Amino acid sequence: FHLDIDSSETDKGTYPFYMLKEIDEQPIVIRHLIEKYLDNEGGVHVGQAILNDLKAADRLYIVAAGTSYHAGLVGKRLFEQWAGVPTEVHLSSEFAYEQPLLSEKPFFIFLTQSGETADSREVLQNVNAQGFKSLTLTNVEKSTLWREATYALPLLAGPEIAVASTKAYVAQVALQAILAYAIADRATLGFDLEQDLSKIAVGIQGIVDDKETLQQVANQYLVESRNAFFIGRGVDSTVSLEAALKLKEISYVQAEGFAAGELKHGTLALIEDGTPVIALITQAKTAGLVRGNLAETQARGSRAYTIVTQSLAKEGDDFILPDVNELLSPLLSVVPTQLLAYYTSLGRGLDVDRPRNLAKSVTVQ
Ligand code: G6P
Repeated sequence: FHLDIDSSETDKGTYPFYMLKEIDEQPIVIRHLIEKYLDNEGGVHVGQAILNDLKAADRLYIVAAGTSYHAGLVGKRLFEQWAGVPTEVHLSSEFAYEQPLLSEKPFFIFLTQSGETADSREVLQNVNAQGFKSLTLTNVEKSTLWREATYALPLLAGPEIAVASTKAYVAQVALQAILAYAIADRATLGFDLEQDLSKIAVGIQGIVDDKETLQQVANQYLVESRNAFFIGRGVDSTVSLEAALKLKEISYVQAEGFAAGELKHGTLALIEDGTPVIALITQAKTAGLVRGNLAETQARGSRAYTIVTQSLAKEGDDFILPDVNELLSPLLSVVPTQLLAYYTSLGRGLDVDRPRNLAKSVTVQ
């Protein structure tokens, strides 16, 4: 069978905004990645040279900006916990002018939807000048960072038009998972990534089919709010950062994403009557702790909303996600937060696709 993003990829079709179309395309994006990079015998097809260099590295350095940086924060967990390779994630705008001490055998991964972000290119040029090898994961083949890195792999998300990035984030997380899986010891991992990602494609479909629920939640909790908080621990804290960025970008609601345990060290002071606090709970080890942190905000009057995986759900939870491989949960949990941002922007009557002051591709430093 054949999968297409759309017969005319840059046509909005019946969608009011590109962003909603791009959110809806995410199951197809996952299927494209499975088709291109995985087979049903556990094989990973990204090229042997890339795998050799990834395996030879004693440390990975992921460099990115914006939403791509948030995808890198998930990637770090995947490379460390699945493949056992120490991994650092850096903002390109910082790395460019303050290069951290590097390990003996570093390998660089550039994450960039556009392949044109000036800060990221600056880092790549420095890395090239020092003779280190690199891999760019980008949605735009033949872009600058595609051409100038040692290796490049396409994200296969199809053109992303809305300024707020959605499907490229999901593609970046999934492709990093594929790379981490490729260099991991399969026997100890004990799962088949192709099956897990297929389950995720189905799970995302379920979430986007439930968008009316999230529209109601956006209207009820966020459209009239001045601020909002997203909290979680571990990988959920990184999705919280992305959720907050998305809401800020397109709805102009001041939002913060937090490692839930850090709230009590200052931010709790901002919680007042009615402040929306959205908790992401997908990690068994810390679920109880996040609930405790959420309760602390409720005691100060917050309006709590929970996004929880099935097996961790309790009575009274709000949005239930299907159970998946815990470290892949960002691929699911990010989707309701994208829809919350979308409907908040829509509810405020804003131009969802073209938020003020922002550009899709930032080619100045
Ligand atoms: C801009 C876009 C963001 C994006 C960031 C990094 O700020 O508005 O959506 O995450 O650049 O872009 P890149 O193309 O390098 O992923």
